[in-house]
Amino acid sequence: MTSDPLTEQPPETAGLAAVVLAAGMGTRMKSHLPKVLHPLVGVPLVGHVLRALAPLAPTQTVLVVGHGGEQVQEALGPAYIYVTQAPQLGTGHAVLHARAALADHAGPVLVLYGDTPLLRPTTLSALRARHAQRSGTHVTLLTGLAPDPTGYGRILRDAAGRMTAIVEERVASPAERAIQEINSGLYCFDGPWLWSRLAALPIHPGANEYYLTDLIAVAIAEDPDSVETLALSDMDEMAGINNRVQLAEAGGVLRDRIRRHWMLEGVTLLDPATTYIDADVTLGRDTTLYPGCYLEGRTAVGSNCRLGPSARLVNATVGDGCTVGMSLLESCIVEAGVDIGSFNHLRPGAYLSSGVHLGNFAEVKNSHLGPDVAMGHFSYLGDSDVGAGTNIGAGTITVNLGADGHKHRTTIGAGAFIGCDSLLIAPVTVGPGAMTGAGAVVNHDVAADTLVVGMPARPIRRRTPS
Ligand code: UD1
Ligand code: CA
Repeated sequence: MTSDPLTEQPPETAGLAAVVLAAGMGTRMKSHLPKVLHPLVGVPLVGHVLRALAPLAPTQTVLVVGHGGEQVQEALGPAYIYVTQAPQLGTGHAVLHARAALADHAGPVLVLYGDTPLLRPTTLSALRARHAQRSGTHVTLLTGLAPDPTGYGRILRDAAGRMTAIVEERVASPAERAIQEINSGLYCFDGPWLWSRLAALPIHPGANEYYLTDLIAVAIAEDPDSVETLALSDMDEMAGINNRVQLAEAGGVLRDRIRRHWMLEGVTLLDPATTYIDADVTLGRDTTLYPGCYLEGRTAVGSNCRLGPSARLVNATVGDGCTVGMSLLESCIVEAGVDIGSFNHLRPGAYLSSGVHLGNFAEVKNSHLGPDVAMGHFSYLGDSDVGAGTNIGAGTITVNLGADGHKHRTTIGAGAFIGCDSLLIAPVTVGPGAMTGAGAVVNHDVAADTLVVGMPARPIRRRTPS
């Protein structure tokens, strides 16, 4: 490697490229879903690896996909270069598929396995920095000391402590299996060296696959000083997920990180152990989460809210100063100062303006509730627009599915009063200030400031304007 004449540093101008392996079968997951798409805290396994990589701003990131490749591509989007490895003949074979995409890349290449979701950006930066320390390094790999190294490749070293090879568990002797230093599957390669040696990698003896790990022995044979290791003392970040036990363990670590983050940001968690917060959730200061809260997807909760016990929010947006009891909120928007009691269900498209009150057993779907609407007991509003300050009596139901099989809208004006057990048969409009009597079946529009009763509801008199 030549030096930059001005800085006398190795040229880093070529930038960093990355290859993420995500083609494997994931046989040990025993799943129809590709292993790398199994979600943890709302993000697919491989998504965690890509998030750890993002701050290093690689010039190109190549994803090697295969098993369920189209699904993987759909889940991760167009920001990456996808190459397909089929059949999947091992990690060495997988990396080779990225060669054409990175042939012109002169800088270092990070090779990451897509099943290491606990990885942090700082660790990748450290790996890259260690690799850049000495020119002539062909590969730097991250190793860890595993309390239980089962399933990992073990790092073999000579008496002087210099690495000699990686031995995979399947072929390791009992003495080698006792070694606790493991291969994390995270490497920084010199790009041109990697591409020139990879094609010549032989099939691993006894396996029908090409092992990327065998490339380490190739480098050592060329020059023992061309292989560097960066050893981390704890395994946390390097855990490779091969089965659902490990998936659950990694989930526990990630949830713990997220909970600590939000507590340090000023959110009170009364019982962190029973509080589940996905990676993309945001929370405002002085919000309190009672036990058993599940905040999922892109949920955003403002400050000074009180959630739970046992509230579940999925892709919900909740403004400041709201209270949510034991309720389920999905893909909905709740403005500031809304009070939601227990056993309510906000379904996709529900919009609750500030000051709305839901008592219990209210279901709201694809409906806009204006400011200060009160819906105290046992009601369903679907495909509706409700004006400010309207009261929805107990047992009110919008009959939004017509005999024609289509959903129709219900419009209720501001300041209306819907009596208990009213059925509003859509499409229908109840004017502002109107009132329905208990048990009314409303199948015709109701004029403003009019009281209707009966089945079907018929006008009986004008209301005095409020
Ligand atoms: C691998 C390493 C092992 C290391 C461990 C760390 C090899 C031979 N072994 O073992 O030394 O300790 O990871 O977690 O590399 N993949 C492909 N195409 C393939 C095969 C695998 O893309 O043909 C991908 C998988 O999707 C996965 C990653 O490569 O994301 C690792 O494969 P996996 O089968 O999990 O390797 P391990 O047996 O865990
Ligand atoms: Ca693995």
